[in-house]
Amino acid sequence: MKYISPLSSPVFGRPGPRSLSILGSTGSIGTSALRVVSKNRQSLMVTALAGARNMELLARQAEMFRPKYLGVLTAEKAGELRSLLPSGYAPEIVVGQEGYTALATLPEADLILAAQVGAAGLVPALAAARAGKVLCLANKEALVLAGGLFREACQASGAVVLPVDSEHNALFQAFAGHDGRQASRLILTASGGPFRTWPAERIRAVTPAQALKHPNWSMGAKISIDSATMMNKGLEIIEAVHLYGAAPDEVDVVVHPQSIVHSLVEYEDGSQLAHLGMPDMEIPIGYCLGYPDRLHIGLERLDLARVGTLTFEAPDPDRFPCLRLAREALVAGSGHPVVLNAANEVAVQAFLDGRISFPGIAHLIEEMLAAQPLTSTQGLEDILALDAQTRTRSEAAMERGEW
Ligand SMILES: NC(=O)c1ccc[n+]([C@@H]2O[C@H](COP(=O)([O-])OP(=O)(O)OC[C@H]3O[C@@H](n4cnc5c(N)ncnc54)[C@H](OP(=O)(O)O)[C@@H]3O)[C@@H](O)[C@H]2O)c1
Repeated sequence: MKYISPLSSPVFGRPGPRSLSILGSTGSIGTSALRVVSKNRQSLMVTALAGARNMELLARQAEMFRPKYLGVLTAEKAGELRSLLPSGYAPEIVVGQEGYTALATLPEADLILAAQVGAAGLVPALAAARAGKVLCLANKEALVLAGGLFREACQASGAVVLPVDSEHNALFQAFAGHDGRQASRLILTASGGPFRTWPAERIRAVTPAQALKHPNWSMGAKISIDSATMMNKGLEIIEAVHLYGAAPDEVDVVVHPQSIVHSLVEYEDGSQLAHLGMPDMEIPIGYCLGYPDRLHIGLERLDLARVGTLTFEAPDPDRFPCLRLAREALVAGSGHPVVLNAANEVAVQAFLDGRISFPGIAHLIEEMLAAQPLTSTQGLEDILALDAQTRTRSEAAMERGEW
């Protein structure tokens, strides 16, 4: 494998606790990260927190961690937040994409945790990479949209990307101490989601509430639906290709319903090195925030004797077509991963809003990809323009058809 990960040992200049800027602190990853900070106050502190719309939670987090900076989506939200903060505490509140970008490039932040959901997280995360930051990246969509730009940015600025996504974090740990060029295959594990054993007819009628109920992981709404369609694993194949320089056919997926083995690196001699642990995002988040040291996480330990059985099976591309669509988009290249991601984000929201059926998600994405000519997306502006166009086209297609 042509292992070309941008990862390298980040150098932390200042002694004392590392300061964190957390984009998406009000989400599932953000709140897990703050739990890790709470348990490691001697080594981690919070300089900036950013949410989007949930001001009550952001105010509670701000009161507890007292960051110097807060970020929100709109000026109206900033006013709401200000009114919720305790008297005598007056952090600087920044607004919108520009504000998030400022928090992603703060000179006083040692680590940037990019945990906003969807394409909205791209611009600030890329700004962090361009500013040479140590970027703990949960926002997989940013890599799907602009993996090439991240690689260029890391090479030019010396930025480091530490993968928070549990599978990519597992791969990172399985690469440690080994020559990545001797890896022959990356094997991503997938839980299979809540409908792993359901026949196609039953999957056709699933409701948002059923799809949101992931068997093993507690996550935000968008990634929970992505796990149910297995688009999440498709996005992760693309993420792995960009992070580790693998070819598309060097990344495989195996379904592992217990979510104990988090992924494997196979080496040329046939050895497969796996990472095992309880399915809790505090573990990979803590690994990134403490890297290269290991932090105190304090979760229940994995007891393999109690787990008893670990099982593995091949994914079913017929019942879960999103996995195939993601692979096809990756191989087609050009703007196809951008179209895949944008159509998926629109379709997932439409499904959650009761506007389309569960299989409608894959149908809409397939239609958007089929109608997309191969165009090259050179830079960030091209990517953002194609993302916006696809969203408009997806909305129009939903207006026209029965999904
Ligand atoms: N959850 C997991 O276990 C997990 C695992 C691996 C990777 N990831 C990835 O991590 C990212 C976050 O996932 P999550 O599950 O934590 O999502 P989530 O719970 O939905 O949280 C999303 C965060 O993004 C903020 N946000 C929403 N819309 C925004 C916008 N337009 N601009 C800026 N910020 C916005 C939200 O703010 P408000 O809530 O204040 O509106 C919230 O802080 C995703 O890319 C996901 O794929 C998640």
